Amino acid sequence: MKPLNIGLIGYGFMGRTHSNGYKRVNDFFPELQHRPVLKCVCGRNAENAQAFADQWQYESIETDWRKVIERDDIDAIDICTPNNSHAEIAIAAAEAGKMILCEKPLALNPEEGATMVEAVEKAGVRNTVWYNYRRVPAVTLAKQLIDEGKLGRIFHYRANFLQDWTISEEVPQGGAALWRLDVNAAGSGVTGDLLAHCIDTALWLNGSIDNVTAVTETFVKERMHTETGKMEKVGIDDACAFLCRFNNGSLGLFESTRYARGHKALYTFEINGENASIRWDLHDLHRLEYFEHNDEGRLRGWRSIHVTDHGGEHPYMDKWWVPGLQIGYEHTFVHQVADFLKSVDEDKPCHPTFADAQETQKVCEAVLASGRDGSWKQV
Ligand SMILES: NC(=O)c1ccc[n+]([C@@H]2O[C@H](COP(=O)([O-])OP(=O)(O)OC[C@H]3O[C@@H](n4cnc5c(N)ncnc54)[C@H](O)[C@@H]3O)[C@@H](O)[C@H]2O)c1
Repeated sequence: MKPLNIGLIGYGFMGRTHSNGYKRVNDFFPELQHRPVLKCVCGRNAENAQAFADQWQYESIETDWRKVIERDDIDAIDICTPNNSHAEIAIAAAEAGKMILCEKPLALNPEEGATMVEAVEKAGVRNTVWYNYRRVPAVTLAKQLIDEGKLGRIFHYRANFLQDWTISEEVPQGGAALWRLDVNAAGSGVTGDLLAHCIDTALWLNGSIDNVTAVTETFVKERMHTETGKMEKVGIDDACAFLCRFNNGSLGLFESTRYARGHKALYTFEINGENASIRWDLHDLHRLEYFEHNDEGRLRGWRSIHVTDHGGEHPYMDKWWVPGLQIGYEHTFVHQVADFLKSVDEDKPCHPTFADAQETQKVCEAVLASGRDGSWKQV
């Protein structure tokens, strides 16, 4: 088995999920020809980076991401930092000939995204973006059913991503844990953070989006900035709802907010086709709900498919336990690492690539632009 040396930049929430993926992947995907080696973790604070390295068994630390990119013993750069650093790190990594796994959203905006796509394509380096919900077995099963034509013509695509953690006006913006509320670090609010996931899944399942019309709102207009200590204008969208037309003629309806009291991470989607409908809910992520109109009338109704079968029946599930026993959130990252390593073994692209993620970025930009002036926007 060949080593593939990872340089992880940023060791927060995603740094942990990815490290877990790297550590577990070969135990559960023994056919892979490459083994990720936790070579280096980078954080600006040496003490914290060392503590993370000790906990997760990284071999070394760096406090400047440029040093990681310069190192000859690093094969792949994993970008787990806030959104405003993705482009700079990714472009430097591409120029140094490193493979890149970049967190979502790809960039702050499509202009930045375009420079990243150009850089990886020019350098010819392997690249992928961690839109991990594609790798929930139930979501992958939805993709299979749609591609097999089971739904027939698609009429509607509906998705939500609801949270409630920024309702208090006392929550500040900016800095370590709260960069998501600072438009300079995040690029946008719920659109780039949450709807980007919904859009990536939608483009994958239902094809491209032609045009959009959106409403956005910033409910709390000013928040204390942790870096300046002053009250500052909030530049992100707290909530966003948009309508769209897909290229296949279907209509889309998307909503995201951080003001839906009671909801912590409710990502749901539903697709209505001529013959069948599909429904999925992140809080019950191992189930796919399916309605088949061609069923015998007496038995017709919503099925709740427990996506745990072996024998190739349910995607990824051969790798885990026995039928009936489910897996969870962290496994989506194990799957993404497995698919990335497989793409290295087979020398094929690992989707979503930077170019795929740029399509999501363009939809986000059209949504935000429509939110500003209320008109329909071409993507
Ligand atoms: N795929 C998903 O489901 C998912 C979920 C959460 C976050 N994300 C994305 O992952 C990225 C990180 O989010 P997070 O939730 O892990 O954030 P986080 O705040 O938990 O972690 C960010 C890390 O980056 C480090 N960092 C910041 N600037 C740095 C720099 N210049 N050099 C080195 N390290 C630096 C911070 O110290 C911290 O360790 C974001 O782009 C976010 O959108 C994706």
